[in-house]
Amino acid sequence: MTRNLAAAPQPAAFPDARDAAGTAAGRRLVVVGSGIAGLYAALLAADAGAEAVLVSKGALDESNTWYAQGGISAVLPAPAPGDTVAAHIADTLRAGAGHCNIAAVKMMCTEARQDIAGLRRFGVVFDAGHDGGPALGLEAAHSAPRILHAGGDATGARVAEALIRAVLAAQAEGKLTVLTNAHATALVRERGRVTGVEYLRGGRAERIGGDAVLLATGGAGQLFAQTTNPAVATADGLALAVRAGAAVADLEFFQFHPTCFVDTAAGSRADHAGPLLISEAVRGEGAILVDAGGRRFMRAYHPDAELAPRDVVSRSIALHLARLGDPNGHVYLDARPIEEARGTGFLKRRFPTLTRKTRDAGIDWTREPVPVAPAAHYWMGGVATDLSGRTTVPGLYAAGEVACTGVQGANRLASNSLLEGLVFGRRAVEAFLSFDDNGGWGAPRGSGAPRAVSAAGGLPLTHASAPLPRRADSAVAFPADSAGAAAGVDSLAGSALASFGGGGVVEPFSREALRRLMTSHAGVLRSRELLAEAAETLHRWAAVVLPEDSVPLERNPSAHEDRNLLLAAQLLVSAALRRRDSLGAHYRADEPAETSETIPLRPKAILLHD
Ligand code: FAD
Ligand code: SIN
Repeated sequence: MTRNLAAAPQPAAFPDARDAAGTAAGRRLVVVGSGIAGLYAALLAADAGAEAVLVSKGALDESNTWYAQGGISAVLPAPAPGDTVAAHIADTLRAGAGHCNIAAVKMMCTEARQDIAGLRRFGVVFDAGHDGGPALGLEAAHSAPRILHAGGDATGARVAEALIRAVLAAQAEGKLTVLTNAHATALVRERGRVTGVEYLRGGRAERIGGDAVLLATGGAGQLFAQTTNPAVATADGLALAVRAGAAVADLEFFQFHPTCFVDTAAGSRADHAGPLLISEAVRGEGAILVDAGGRRFMRAYHPDAELAPRDVVSRSIALHLARLGDPNGHVYLDARPIEEARGTGFLKRRFPTLTRKTRDAGIDWTREPVPVAPAAHYWMGGVATDLSGRTTVPGLYAAGEVACTGVQGANRLASNSLLEGLVFGRRAVEAFLSFDDNGGWGAPRGSGAPRAVSAAGGLPLTHASAPLPRRADSAVAFPADSAGAAAGVDSLAGSALASFGGGGVVEPFSREALRRLMTSHAGVLRSRELLAEAAETLHRWAAVVLPEDSVPLERNPSAHEDRNLLLAAQLLVSAALRRRDSLGAHYRADEPAETSETIPLRPKAILLHD
């Protein structure tokens, strides 16, 4: 039976692993990754008396988690008026376009409050409202304010700081071992079980064994030329798991965040400072999207306008730009209505980091709109797990963005990712502590399992062992004349193809070429033609990038990342080719859509800014 860390003796209303001590002693859990999922899981395992080893390829604060702004969604025991766990579940399912694992969503939304309490126990302090209770923000596609935040718009950094402090304190007490600058390159397998991790550290190849490994390596934004993700997001965990034989799922669904800052002064994003996401919470407070002509366009695309699900807003921006004949351009986020409604100084108080960062970039957002465009943000797909983080390989767990539990469906609801990392990170530790990996999660376990695909042989074979649920009502309603965008978008296809082999010339492999290919061929708008083109180019590159027999000798972490990105790109494109219908973040412009409101388009747009 799986031990429940959340069911600790009262009065603690939070996950408490201490009741597990004793059984855990002497068992080692190797946790790979120091984002929210890895830090929290390592702390819980150490607290329970297990030997926890935390391995991270950079410093502990190098993660997607660090950059999270908006916050963590959770319905607390004293929620905002009218809010309920049932509403959180319904919002998550709706945003997920009917593709979520309902059991997983119910569990995550129900258990959320326990792990928020767990975070507080490790020192996380959330912003308070006037009444002293937590200040709750509103974000797109949430039906009530339920987003806990810290430091205004610095939630990820505040959460990570507190957890890192707790991890270092646990290390000082001898309860946990931290290995930073340790780049995992492979999973060790013995007799069908994962029993450890190989990693590079200081130019040397090392290995650490364990009773189980928890992958918490985050996402893969570096697959695309424009991304909100930091440099560490290179799909390493997914690639390692696939090579170890784990099943993966939902890889065609990659979310593009609608509002990534575009540095118009420099002609491209200010990459010296890293990408700058303008949080969805800004739209939640009342900012609107306008085009270069100052027209508010989102109402023409979806009744919820700027607060429509994220996939809808990104796609609408792409289509609108194409329609304006400027597919590689940008739109503007106008935050001035917020201060008109809430008074001068509100933006600085509520969004201190964004106020400073936009000002550093030369924009005073209290006076002028901010140039923005969609950028790759979050991978809904990943290593398939059950409700306790078990993968299909014995001894291997996965949690956080690297995993696919099915909670995010075809399009993640804002602020549900940090939450997923917490809830499923904890549940994976509970299963580990209970000796409950059951020889790995497989088809017979059934309950709550996401739709998984076999990754045998490197690429997924089939998809969807269960019938796909019907698309929910987040379907995109494009304006009647949006088909007119087709001409503008179509005209771009030729140049995109020519540079990647459509004209018979294949650019040699480089990470930059890969990222440009993925942006132009597998981005917000997709078609069979572009995806097939991408698959062919990726296949040719795969033949020359770090062949299998040279892998163990390769001492350069970045060569491993290239290899991982290439494999992840192949898997994504292959899944996208198989799914001919449009669903959530996967939009096939060339195939008839499921709903009558959606006008089929033949075109494809590229959102290249460089
Ligand atoms: P990460 O936080 O990405 O951590 C992964 C860790 O694994 C890193 O420490 C990395 O160095 C390590 N790692 C990777 N590969 C290896 C390897 N080979 N060997 C060793 N270590 C490795 N979500 C929300 O819910 N709310 C938000 O407000 C929000 N805002 C966001 C804003 C931005 C700008 C971004 C980029 C994302 C945002 N997200 C938000 C998404 C969310 O931050 C991430 O999905 C989440 O933090 C992922 O957590 P994680 O623990 O799974 O992975
Ligand atoms: C944001 O603050 O807009 C990002 C929130 C998220 O990715 O969930």
